[in-house]
Amino acid sequence: MPDAPVHAHPGRTGAVPIPPRAGLLACDGLTKSFGAGPPALDNVTFTLDAPQFTVLLGSSGSGKTTLLRAIAGLIPLEAGRIEIAGEALTPASLSSVRRRLGMVHQDFGLADRLTAAQNVMAGAAVHLSWPRLLFQAYPRDVRRRTCRLLAEVGLTEIQANRKARELSGGQRQRVGIARALIGQPRLFLADEPVANLDPQTAAGVLALMRSAVTAHGAGILCSLHQTDLACQFADRIIGLKAGRIAFDGPPTALTPEVVAALFGHSAPASAAGSDLS
Ligand SMILES: Nc1ncnc2c1ncn2[C@@H]1O[C@H](COP(=O)(O)OP(=O)(O)O)[C@@H](O)[C@H]1O
Ligand SMILES: [Mg+2]
Repeated sequence: MPDAPVHAHPGRTGAVPIPPRAGLLACDGLTKSFGAGPPALDNVTFTLDAPQFTVLLGSSGSGKTTLLRAIAGLIPLEAGRIEIAGEALTPASLSSVRRRLGMVHQDFGLADRLTAAQNVMAGAAVHLSWPRLLFQAYPRDVRRRTCRLLAEVGLTEIQANRKARELSGGQRQRVGIARALIGQPRLFLADEPVANLDPQTAAGVLALMRSAVTAHGAGILCSLHQTDLACQFADRIIGLKAGRIAFDGPPTALTPEVVAALFGHSAPASAAGSDLS
C-alpha cells in the first residue's frame, strides 16, 4: 500500500491557474476511533466541487460508512473540521447544514407502511413546521415535486401509490433517491446504495443516480466496494484503506497495482451476492 495518497488530477498542474470555486465539501483532518483499536478514520482530508460523481472505494472496514456518517453529522469526531457548501458543521449548525444534504442508505431506509410517494414527501420533513408534519399537510410544491421526482426516477403512478414493502429492491432504491432529492440538496451522500441489488439493477440505479442528481446540480459522494462499478460511474475515486486516503484520482489512474494495494488482494467485482460492505 502506498503510504502517501496518489494524487492524479489531470490539468491541475498546468500554467493557467484554475479560479477558486465555492467548495461543496471540505473535510480537514477527520479522525475517529471506536474503542481501543486502530482509528476508523485517520486524518482524512479532501475537498469536493459540484457536480461530480465521487466514489469512496474501499474494502470492508476501511472507514467508508464512518466517513459518510460523520459528514452527515450522525457521529461526533475526535478531531477535524467539516464544511458543507461553505458552512462549518457544528452542533449549532447541524440542522441548517443537513438541509444541504441528501442521503441514501444501503438498506434503503424507507418506512414500509407508507407509500412510495409518502416516503418521498417525508424527505422534506426537515424543511417543514411541526404542525404541517403532525397533520401530514405537505405543501403543494412538495407534492408537485414528489410527482416529478417519482417520474424522473422511473416509477409509475401505480407504483408511487404502492406501500414501500410491496416494491422490488430496485424500485425501493429509486424511491430512496427521489426522497434524498426532494430537499434539493447540494451534496448527495450514498452509502453502498447498490450493495443489495443484482449487478444489472445496480448499474441501472447508479446510472439513474448520476443523471438525476447531476441534473439537479448536486455533487455525489457514494461509497462502493466494487471496483468495476466505481470505474464505470465515477468522475473521481477516493480510495480508503484502514481509515486513510490511499488513492485520489480519476478512474483511469486506478491501475491494477493501485487496486491491489487498496484491497490487499485482487479487486472485488460486482458479482451477485458479493457484499463486502
Ligand atoms: N459503532 C461502531 N462501534 C465499534 N466499531 C465500529 C463502529 N462503526 C465502525 N466501527 C469500526 O470502524 C472501522 C470502519 O468501519 P466502517 O466505517 O463501517 O467501514 P466500511 O463502511 O468501509 O465497511 C471498522 O474497523 C469497524 O469495525
Ligand atoms: Mg459500510
